[in-house]
Amino acid sequence: MFPRGRKILLGVSGGISAYKSCDLLRRLQDHGFIVDVVPTQASLNFVGKSTWEALSGRKVYMDLWSDVEKIPHISMAKENDLIVIAPATADLLAKLAAGRADDLLTNIVLASTAPKVLVPAMHTEMWLNPATTENVDTLRKRGFIVVEPDEGRMTGTDIGVGRYPESTKIIKAIDDALIATSDLVGKKIIITAGGTREPIDPIRFIGNRSSGKQGFALAMAAASRGAQVHLVTANTELPNIEGITVTNVETAEQMLAVLDLEFPHCDALIMSAAVADAKVVNYSDFKIGKESLNTLALIKNPDILKSLSGTKKPGQILIGFAAETISDVKELEANATAKLLSKSLDMIYVNNVAGGAIFGSNVTQGLIIDRDKNIIQVPEISKDTLADILLDQLVSKLG
Ligand code: CTP
Repeated sequence: MFPRGRKILLGVSGGISAYKSCDLLRRLQDHGFIVDVVPTQASLNFVGKSTWEALSGRKVYMDLWSDVEKIPHISMAKENDLIVIAPATADLLAKLAAGRADDLLTNIVLASTAPKVLVPAMHTEMWLNPATTENVDTLRKRGFIVVEPDEGRMTGTDIGVGRYPESTKIIKAIDDALIATSDLVGKKIIITAGGTREPIDPIRFIGNRSSGKQGFALAMAAASRGAQVHLVTANTELPNIEGITVTNVETAEQMLAVLDLEFPHCDALIMSAAVADAKVVNYSDFKIGKESLNTLALIKNPDILKSLSGTKKPGQILIGFAAETISDVKELEANATAKLLSKSLDMIYVNNVAGGAIFGSNVTQGLIIDRDKNIIQVPEISKDTLADILLDQLVSKLG
């Protein structure tokens, strides 16, 4: 079973067997997938929008002209790990083969780079018609996975090839298609994001400028590669990610408490959160007058990574982050290597945040260093891309 977090888009075109896709949707949910349904207008003659909304538990988009500000065809094309179209009518196959995009579903298909599984279902004569056969060939050549229809009773009294297959056969094709992008299936990964805040009084805190964007990018990328992800966030303003377990904490101690419980059960911990190094010795229940701020007594926070690395089991991987204000690359490298060794990390990503760079931004640049002193120079790239590079490294270290 695929873990939570993987998303599938179920396109439904206008064939009588559309009702069978209600079962497919349920079975996909049983397998842990989150499913968005996009019915074509014609399919609504067989199964209505309300049925899809009730079964999927999600809003159903049907045309290009609703919620235009959310650009649904692009966001749905990007968000989903796989597209399955069941049933796929002869007309829809022809449209896809021609690269047409005159409704929401066909626009999504053209805009998506995810694997695509087609489940043709139609009368035997239509399936065997040379026009359909050629369209199927064209689509297969372009990388579409076309599930062979079953043989048996059709609508009415006819018998032949063209039946909508059993849900299990379709789900097998989906599982096979996802294997290539599922290199973290079965792995439990904890990712921390954001920055801890250490309260001084009810109004003030010691904190930092970490936005949490990198941790969220990692969580999304890991989930879409099949990992079971637990995201521990500290003071981020990013929306929750569907299908990912999220625990919100405020302080370093709260983060440590969660990780103390969870770390023994994970395969990897990616510590992208910025942990405040210090907290006040005595929290004040009342606002401290500014004259007392000069003498605020501070004490170091526990070093979470150091404390967890002491309990690390063979095979567990620890990845740290470091934000520095060092522009000299050699110095940056030496500093990060020292942190990697002192915290017994398997890998560290270090970047130079001088002048307000990186924090809150969608891009990053830095160095990835591992225990074997391998260094990857990361040029300016998106945090999403860095997430995938780090996960590639993680996969190779997990073996
Ligand atoms: N970290 C941690 N616990 C802390 C501080 C940091 O687990 N109390 C983690 C961070 O999440 C990060 C890594 O350690 O993954 C390096 O963080 P950084 O703040 O650069 O390290 P420090 O050891 O605090 O070093 P510095 O003195 O440069 O702040």
